[in-house]
Amino acid sequence: MSTDKKTFKRYTVTSALPYANGPIHIGHLAGVYIPADIYTRYLRLKGEDVIYIGGSDEHGVPITIKARQEKLTPQDIVDKYHTMIKDSFEEFGIAFDVYSRTSAPVHHETASGFFKTLYDNGKFVEKETEQYYDEETRHFLADRYITGTCPHCSYEKAYGDQCEHCGTSLSPTDLINPRSVLSGNKPIMKKTRHWYLPLDEYEPMLRKWILEGHKHDWKSNVYGQCKSWIDQGLQARAVTRDLDWGVKVPVEGADGKVLYVWFDAPIGYISATREWGEARGADWQKYWKDPESKLVHFIGKDNIVFHCIIFPVMLHAEGSYILPDNVPANEFLNLEGDKISTSRNWAVWLHEYLKDFPGKQDVLRYVLCAAAPETKDNDFTWKDFQARNNNELLAIFGNFINRTLVLTHKYFEGKVPEIPVNDSLNGITPTDKQTLDSLAAFPEKIMNSLDNYRFREALGELMNLARLGNKYLTDAEPWKIFKDNPQRVQTILNISLQICGSLTILCEPFLPFTAEKLQKMLRVGKPQWKLAGSRDLLKAGHEIDVPALLFDRIEDKEIDDQIQKLLQTRKDNEQVQPQTPLKPPITYEDFARLDIRTATITAAEKVAKTKKLLKLELNTGLDTRTVVSGISGVYEPADIVGKKVILLANLEPKNIRGIMSHGMILMAEKQDGDLSFIVPEKEFPDGEIIC
Ligand code: MF3
Ligand code: ZN
Repeated sequence: MSTDKKTFKRYTVTSALPYANGPIHIGHLAGVYIPADIYTRYLRLKGEDVIYIGGSDEHGVPITIKARQEKLTPQDIVDKYHTMIKDSFEEFGIAFDVYSRTSAPVHHETASGFFKTLYDNGKFVEKETEQYYDEETRHFLADRYITGTCPHCSYEKAYGDQCEHCGTSLSPTDLINPRSVLSGNKPIMKKTRHWYLPLDEYEPMLRKWILEGHKHDWKSNVYGQCKSWIDQGLQARAVTRDLDWGVKVPVEGADGKVLYVWFDAPIGYISATREWGEARGADWQKYWKDPESKLVHFIGKDNIVFHCIIFPVMLHAEGSYILPDNVPANEFLNLEGDKISTSRNWAVWLHEYLKDFPGKQDVLRYVLCAAAPETKDNDFTWKDFQARNNNELLAIFGNFINRTLVLTHKYFEGKVPEIPVNDSLNGITPTDKQTLDSLAAFPEKIMNSLDNYRFREALGELMNLARLGNKYLTDAEPWKIFKDNPQRVQTILNISLQICGSLTILCEPFLPFTAEKLQKMLRVGKPQWKLAGSRDLLKAGHEIDVPALLFDRIEDKEIDDQIQKLLQTRKDNEQVQPQTPLKPPITYEDFARLDIRTATITAAEKVAKTKKLLKLELNTGLDTRTVVSGISGVYEPADIVGKKVILLANLEPKNIRGIMSHGMILMAEKQDGDLSFIVPEKEFPDGEIIC
């Protein structure tokens, strides 16, 4: 990515609105909220006009399903989680200018008005189609209200909008053996009328804007996903649903219909800005309509299509809005080697962290930025958390500041010493000069990384500045020379203090709580980016406060407690997760119709544009054949060539993503989706019968 050439008058920064059906966990923080918060704090330090928008996403099927399960109203559910999410963000220092919610009246009005404008201008296509309907509960079954077997990978719990096993996006009618989530019944087909946004008509605009215009400044994962969507051919998307929870469709004859959650939620960014503006009599519209405003959406990778294709098409169709300048989406964070999962409680929850580690917001902010899944999925482990605190924050950053401040008090009564000007070098040695020159270069390096959304790299540079200070002080050994040469120590501590001053400014976006403590300790005012790197930040004679410790050592016991908590979760999951119920009995003849045999994988490759599918060549003893199997993600192609497997060989051939698959490899599958080949316990040639 290149450095920003275009300059902007102001910045509008959004982070994905979290669903208000559960608390925030470290995956959300690392992927979205920490990078967005760093970015906006950095812009504020530079004195830019920036507004950082957040809020809760309170509509959509998962919320109504949760309400039903807990026998509460959807409003009860979102009230509970909205408050919890808002409070924990605040305590964690995510500095939104506004944190709103999509059940707010201002949002209903804004989203409904937006729809009406598109409707009045003929931007929608109205279609009557047949959709699945649950006769018992009298609901149309869209999205997650319907489940069935995935036509691509045979996963039995796929949803009407997506198979979470192979990642394919689905329509309800793609599902084999569909069932209502509400009643478990087989649905019937019933006619219904909806409004569609004809995305296909916007293909030329999207090609020009993204594929030509943002090839070099968008992250390659984001650009790649957009390209693949556009190349596959865009289709009209229904933007209304037959539901009773959501923003009512503001059109005659649309009773019982609401806006699709992915139509209303991104408009939530606009409503929140409006709420912010109206509350303080500020002009909010320029943040969304002036081409000199830079709009940036921070999101996770599962939100790319909505923020790069659908929402921009909505904004473009409306006509008066700007489009995002960048959408820096992150990959996913895992926890101790496993996918984070709300339903399996496999997560580190923000509200629990804040309780377990009071006052340690910056430690988690640091670790999650240092291990952010910026270019690939990444793993959070408690051991790494401990190591980064003890060996980096404490041993490098904290140690340097502490030594400098303690020595300043010890030798110079807490006053910044002057660099003496009475020797040939003006008191400055070549090492001093090198150190000051390096110091001066840091703000630009960090700025360059931040401007290009490389937050890990920026944080790495910040730590390099602390390392520079630490090394300078250690090598100079002022404690050894003070007795004989106190003048030299004046220079050493002056320079060290200048580095402390710059660290105070530059660390603010990443470690805001630490920055505040440092400001008090150094008795400096509000940090300003343009002062960082200066060799004259703290004037000689300026008196500093006594140092307090910035970071404490995290002991094994605290980490073991967290690991125990996770192990307990794992155990609980094994116990409470109901085993899949026994299927109805079959006869021996039924069984004997299955032709199951041993075979060997001779070649394997990924199926393009799928997440879970591998194309395998098998030697069955009788023939060689192709089988498509949903095991990518668990197994890498290179690792399984030569593996002995068990094959259901007489399953009728099936076309999967354009490839004929002749049979199915038998796998053992855990409830969390982990898979394992089943292999004979002894050496076996290919083609032997399983009976
Ligand atoms: N609630 C969605 C999610 O968690 C994100 C919504 S982002 C918005 O995946 F743009 F729609 F607001
Ligand atoms: Zn699937």
